[in-house]
Amino acid sequence: MTDPTALTGLLFDESRSAEIVADSFRDTEDPRLKQILTSLVQHLHAFVKDVRLTPEEWESGIRFLTRTGQTCDESRQEFILLSDTLGVSMLVESLANAARGEVTEATVEGPFHVVTSPERELGDDISVSGGPGERCVVSGRVLDEDGTAIAGAKVDVWQADAEGFYDVQRPREMGLGTLRGLFTTDDEGRYWFRTVVPSHYPIPADGPVGTMLRQTGRHEFRPAHIHVEVSAPGCRTVTTHIFVAGSPYLDSDTVFGVRESLVRLFELVDDDDEAATYGVAAPFRHADFTVVLERQSS
Ligand code: BEZ
Ligand code: FE
Repeated sequence: MTDPTALTGLLFDESRSAEIVADSFRDTEDPRLKQILTSLVQHLHAFVKDVRLTPEEWESGIRFLTRTGQTCDESRQEFILLSDTLGVSMLVESLANAARGEVTEATVEGPFHVVTSPERELGDDISVSGGPGERCVVSGRVLDEDGTAIAGAKVDVWQADAEGFYDVQRPREMGLGTLRGLFTTDDEGRYWFRTVVPSHYPIPADGPVGTMLRQTGRHEFRPAHIHVEVSAPGCRTVTTHIFVAGSPYLDSDTVFGVRESLVRLFELVDDDDEAATYGVAAPFRHADFTVVLERQSS
């Protein structure tokens, strides 16, 4: 006679815990989903065993993740911030962009690309009129890997002001769409615009991510940068930054976004003729940032 209390299914066993849970995914139809869930469970179980996570610590972790979710709303994405500050966003970018030859390196998009950039003419001034900061011209070209100019490429830029604020953080003072612009390259692949040199700034640190940074003795600053997203038909879009050489925090960006190839001198130009060609007064700062896109075979 069979024992009615005997079970034959998958019973939990600490030594084989990951294997047992991973096996529960055996009927997953999507092979990639199955691979991701299996590996996730293996690493999660290995982590719990490695640190011998206590029930109190597990509860505290759940509370932290709950608060992270509760801090999200339409204009705030605390989970992305957590991913950024744990270096996961940069790792995902790096893996997706590995071995792409001489194309412009990508970096994190960040949470401030939430307002559609207004379409602008080449040379437009994107800054707040009369706002603080050093006047500056940013210019460059969009090329493919062979050095061929890409006409009609879209260059979407957004940046903080000289006090470290984005328009969405000071909508009344700055007006939405300020310090943003969507430019289209000319026949020679050129783009240029006028603005102010941005400042370094703190990421939003009044939520759980900020708590994590303070508990671990980390600062919440990003070095000064201008966000640039460049796209063109038949090319892979690149989302990247122009970092301001000499900015504080270039070697300790709290979201690990800095790549040396993206750092540019914002050179001081004190030449009236050159200033006149850009419609600015001397002296002004000038940064040159040429973007190389990867052609995609159709
Ligand atoms: C940003 O540069 O806009 C940014 C990136 C990651 C986290 C927070 C801000
Ligand atoms: Fe930014």
